[in-house]
Amino acid sequence: DKGNHRHFMAKEIHEQPEVVGRTLAHYVDMARGQVVLREALPFDFARLSRLSITACGTAYYAGLVAKYWFETLARLPVEIDVASETRYREPPLERDGLTLVISQSGETADTLASLRYAKAQGQHTLAVVNVPTSTIARESSAVMPTFAGPEIGVASTKAFSCQLTVLLCLALAAGRARGTLSAERERAIVDALITAPGLMAEAVTMEAAIEGLAREIAKARDVLYLGRGTSYPMALEGALKLKEISYIHAEGYAAGELKHGPIALIDESVPVIVIAPHDAIFEKTVSNMQEVAARGGRIILVGDAKGAAAAGLETLATLTMPEVDPVIAPIVYAVPIQLIAYHTAVFMGKDVDQPRNLAKSVTVE
Ligand code: F6R
Repeated sequence: DKGNHRHFMAKEIHEQPEVVGRTLAHYVDMARGQVVLREALPFDFARLSRLSITACGTAYYAGLVAKYWFETLARLPVEIDVASETRYREPPLERDGLTLVISQSGETADTLASLRYAKAQGQHTLAVVNVPTSTIARESSAVMPTFAGPEIGVASTKAFSCQLTVLLCLALAAGRARGTLSAERERAIVDALITAPGLMAEAVTMEAAIEGLAREIAKARDVLYLGRGTSYPMALEGALKLKEISYIHAEGYAAGELKHGPIALIDESVPVIVIAPHDAIFEKTVSNMQEVAARGGRIILVGDAKGAAAAGLETLATLTMPEVDPVIAPIVYAVPIQLIAYHTAVFMGKDVDQPRNLAKSVTVE
């Protein structure tokens, strides 16, 4: 049931404040300002020397964001790869180490094969899954459910923001266990996290502006997405979302990589979508935006008012997001990224819920 939405994808984008709130209610003790993991974990974060993450597609990008969180908040080195590579690369994995798999469906063939490989190496396995009865959930030593509810649209939206929410809670729990995160810092991040559903609802109100912008993006043959830090995997996710439902060629890059190749593509025909909350490395991204502008590139800035003022650049459009704590920015910025892809594809008359060549659950490799 799509409710009063035209597509499941639209319904699922709009549901995010609610389902992220539901996920938070499970993982956060709001009164104490602390994360609570209700399931006892069969391993100790404090004893890990490394965390291996594996997943496919959008779930992989959630894992890439989580790498930044685990490394900064818990000082835990993270190795991450797409599951189709992990399974055949057969990386050396320490006995009693931890492999984290992320999957909406819990049935993705490559992710399942990587999970089985990790188990065979004597690793503990932890699954972040949306379908609690799935094969991956059954075969993992511990399960952290996302509470997104059934996701029908082929392009993953609400499962992604719920994955991010669970992963940030896990990183906070790891930070506490490893003594790298003070109680004050944990409380500050939890306080920010609690505001995420409200901020996502605010982001949804930019829909009319995004619809207007979509008409411009629809004319492009290629689109570049740029970001730094956790906004880099968000750039990758933005590009994936756009290409899979609009069939416009899109690439995500780390903003600092621009001058190492992709800058050759920049001209007035290539919109450059810059994902840049006003965080500690914002100024570095501004210098990349200047490089784009100097070559006639048309910038679409997804940022906040402070950042837009500090950048002082002429853009094709600026999507002014609410100000957010940079730690939780990926969760909130998922919304405009998804809406850009959705409205571009709808304007182009594409079947956004059933894009060509794609299946919701990839149970064969
Ligand atoms: C993209 C998308 C896919 C899935 C990928 C993994 O919008 O939906 O990239 O994220 O196929 O699927 P799960 O999470 O079910 O393992």
